[in-house]
Amino acid sequence: MSTHPHQSLIDRLHTPISVITAYDYPTARLCDEAGIQMILVGDSLGMVVAGCPDTTSVTIEQMIYHTQIVRRGINQAVLVSDLPIHTYDTPEAALENGRRLIEAGADAVKLEGGIEQVEKIRTLTEANIPFCGHLGMLPQSVHEEGGYHKKGKTLMEADRLIASAQALEAAGAFAIVLESVVSDVARIITASVRNPTIGIGSGVHCDGQVRVLHDVIGAFPWFVPPFAKIHGDVSGTIRTALDGYLSEIAAMEEKRMNS
Ligand code: KIV
Repeated sequence: MSTHPHQSLIDRLHTPISVITAYDYPTARLCDEAGIQMILVGDSLGMVVAGCPDTTSVTIEQMIYHTQIVRRGINQAVLVSDLPIHTYDTPEAALENGRRLIEAGADAVKLEGGIEQVEKIRTLTEANIPFCGHLGMLPQSVHEEGGYHKKGKTLMEADRLIASAQALEAAGAFAIVLESVVSDVARIITASVRNPTIGIGSGVHCDGQVRVLHDVIGAFPWFVPPFAKIHGDVSGTIRTALDGYLSEIAAMEEKRMNS
């Protein structure tokens, strides 16, 4: 059995693989210190950092900046950065923008799509740029899709997902994110590829899980996807701290008036 070109990256991951997004130095450092195995600078930053309705306005310059600041916070974890929409329309663009993310500090890059992306992935692999796949619900296609939908519900869709996962692996993907894939289909995909699958909204059968940091820590109270379990109340903590600060200022003002 031949070894994967990016076996050293795969060797840094062990089941169950823990992946979370981070977009800045302090949260990246906290995730790394907590022992998270892989940190994703996701283009979800368009929503949870920039307040846009989806990921389709994120630029490569934004991804480079966030990759650079996240890199500073990481000691152990594998750092993967997203290639945003329209930065990999051709193999040449994928290569150029992939290189820019690696220069910014990423260990690997991720782009969305299956069989139709194979030529781009081969180009990245041949240039020694480690690549993570992303199948299922593809947030960058949300407008064409008319919303966020579960994938793999029909036999045809399930077959295409399985064939895509195998094609991504053959083209050099070291791991594959499965987003909003029917749990049983995610199980079949996981059994049909050698490299790890990382699920989000795809059930328990993947080799690991990825979540958006803000969902996990309760830092984006205005929207939480139905599959995300909230483990903290960061927005509550911020609100309490800000109330405390406002009270402090009010008390100072009272003192000033009485002095
Ligand atoms: O951008 C992102 O955060 C992602 C995850 C949802 C997998 O791609």
